Amino acid sequence: MSKLVDNFGRQISYVRLAVTDRCNLRCQYCMPAHGIDIVPRKELLTYKEMYRIVRVLTELGVNKVRLTGGEPFVRKDFMSFLEMLSFNDLLDDINITTNGALISNHIETLEKIKKVKNINLSIDSLQREKFAKITRRDVFPEVYNTFELLEKSNLNLKLNVVVQSGFNTDEINGFVALTKDKDIAVRFIEEMPFNGNGQRETNENWSFNRILEEIKSQYTITKISSEKSSTSRNYSIEGHLGTVGIIPAFTRTICNDCNRIRITSTGTFKNCLFDDGVFNLRNFIRNGASNEDLKELFLSLVKEKPKDGFEAEANRKGNVTESMSTIGG
Ligand code: 5AD
Ligand code: SF4
Repeated sequence: MSKLVDNFGRQISYVRLAVTDRCNLRCQYCMPAHGIDIVPRKELLTYKEMYRIVRVLTELGVNKVRLTGGEPFVRKDFMSFLEMLSFNDLLDDINITTNGALISNHIETLEKIKKVKNINLSIDSLQREKFAKITRRDVFPEVYNTFELLEKSNLNLKLNVVVQSGFNTDEINGFVALTKDKDIAVRFIEEMPFNGNGQRETNENWSFNRILEEIKSQYTITKISSEKSSTSRNYSIEGHLGTVGIIPAFTRTICNDCNRIRITSTGTFKNCLFDDGVFNLRNFIRNGASNEDLKELFLSLVKEKPKDGFEAEANRKGNVTESMSTIGG
């Protein structure tokens, strides 16, 4: 069986698929207050098209999928799509990234879908008012309820905290404190300029090292080994059940071991978060491509995977400005 291997010998085994560009929140680092121009529904991939794309990818060695958005649970019948995807016998893991505002009712069902193992919950503040300021929606109680339910569930829970200068840097160690009694992974993410506008004005640069120093100012941490292709550098703290991690999303020191590709909600294939889209799969499929055609296409597209996110950014036609909600987080 042919495998997806790029020109740097990296084997692609993980696809991040955005199931929608819509979102019920308006996080400041992701989109402007009025939201982004959402695409007409018919331009979104259908679930059938997504199923097929994932199936072909799994026949080429992909064994994990992460479903993102926008907010995946905003899309109608998302739960049925999860069940449909779980019938793909070549797929081992279905992971989901969610803002948690719409899912408290679904957790029991999620637990029953065997391949759904990991949930990444985005939560940037533990204070209701600040949370509302960051997300521009007052939904903290609901998100926190989801957090507590997920923590009690049999799903692995990771928290995603985007570190935002001037907003939540004072809460970093508060988030770390959660790992004492909770078996969760708290991961701090460097903010990237994917907000529909470009680079935000900030007073301070909260890079990987700065975040690490902040944690070290209160905790003694020990580096732990992670899967080679992990997006975060992870640490344990003595006496803590959970772990902490930092994702160098912007300083991009993890690209060497990248095993990922992305597909946006409109079917654009991306080799890297920072590239500006390599190929439109939706049109290719709607023009009648066979699964063999798709396979050939994927095998050749990954050969264009740039060495790292800096090369990808340099090769872009325009600057990095689009919303994460369009790209798929
Ligand atoms: N910078 C860093 N992380 C971001 N996310 C969305 N936009 C940005 C950005 N500009 C995060 C979300 C979520 C994940 C999908 O991506 O908070 O956790
Ligand atoms: Fe929605 Fe996530 Fe963007 Fe926030 S960061 S607006 S939750 S897609």
